[in-house]
Amino acid sequence: MLAMGTVPTTTAPAVNLAELEAQARSVLSQATYDYFAGGAEDEAALEGNRDAFRKWRFRFHVLAGAQGPDLSTDLLGQSVAMPVLLAPTATQRLAHPEGELGAARAAAAAGVVYCLSTLATTSLEDVAASSRGPRWFQLYMYQDRGITEDLVDRAMAAGYSAILLTVDAAVLGRRERDFRNAWTLPPELSYANLTGSLAKTANVATGSSALNQYFHQLETRLAWKDLEWLVGKSRVPVLVKGLVRGDDARRAVAQGARGVIVGNHGGRQLDYSIAALDALPEVVEAVGSDGLVLMDGGVRRGTDVLKALALGARSVLIGRPLLWALAVAGEAGVRRMLDQLREEIATSMILLGVSTLDQLTPDLLVRI
Ligand SMILES: Cc1cc2nc3c(=O)[nH]c(=O)nc-3n(C[C@H](O)[C@H](O)[C@H](O)COP(=O)(O)O)c2cc1C
Repeated sequence: MLAMGTVPTTTAPAVNLAELEAQARSVLSQATYDYFAGGAEDEAALEGNRDAFRKWRFRFHVLAGAQGPDLSTDLLGQSVAMPVLLAPTATQRLAHPEGELGAARAAAAAGVVYCLSTLATTSLEDVAASSRGPRWFQLYMYQDRGITEDLVDRAMAAGYSAILLTVDAAVLGRRERDFRNAWTLPPELSYANLTGSLAKTANVATGSSALNQYFHQLETRLAWKDLEWLVGKSRVPVLVKGLVRGDDARRAVAQGARGVIVGNHGGRQLDYSIAALDALPEVVEAVGSDGLVLMDGGVRRGTDVLKALALGARSVLIGRPLLWALAVAGEAGVRRMLDQLREEIATSMILLGVSTLDQLTPDLLVRI
């Protein structure tokens, strides 16, 4: 019998991120696979995120004598090795016992930013102690301001260099796969950033899914004044995660956010949301040079990364593939996944005729 998170040694390593998902599926329970893979309701937003990438094709340059290529970029003054971050995804120890520690170490080794979820199964302090790489903290705003304040203080004390305020999850999207499976965190795991009664109520299944109960603790009336409060409170840059409109992005930056993450929570919140990639150009135009624009949702290929950058994103975040990589081989799996993406990005840059990321411009793309 194989332990959780172990693929048979005869299985060849996945050659791309789609294959990685198939391998992960074979080692995860149905309920865990569904929790990671699923989206809200009809899963139209989930599928839309992927479909959006297929609509763009490259108008590549030839004879450009492209060198390198150089994949490095700068995020809030931090130099990173490539334009990819590991997105905050909850409960990474469900995928593999190495969980958040393994993923954060793999990110550090690859020279990319690791974003830790509020709903991590390893405490933010433990992650900080085991990884020297750049780390950002994702924040859910609680009705109880004291809890929120405590999380922000702890993240700053532990050296997280930005706070991502998630704004697309004031209530939990209806993820019907989780309803069917009555999803709950196994008793040996806990929401390690939460304490006392909050950590407990976080994991009581009440007919729908355990996460639903937990979300009742969050600020359902999340509003601009809450962003203002957070910007005033935080000594590190605040980014707003999960928006799709130019006017909202503009307002976020005007209120002191240092940037935004365009996206719809990987299709897990409002179904039929516009695809992240489709929303990107409007946000890029609205924000201009006043803030950092990142995006996430459906990025599975090096060419996807290049499309998002050509449309104006500085970098992209990767969600589910991180969980698949962890499930298959823990930290080593995430390292391999990031290596693969790096190689795909580098190969495609050469074939596209560009040497540096700032040469990625909209004229390289055509929408079909
Ligand atoms: C299983 C799972 C858990 C997630 N947990 C969080 C979370 O705790 N906080 C958050 O802001 N986003 C969370 N997200 C959303 C991701 O940060 C990211 O926006 C999304 O996964 C990107 O889409 P992709 O999975 O297609 O790459 C989660 C996504 C998944 C799949």
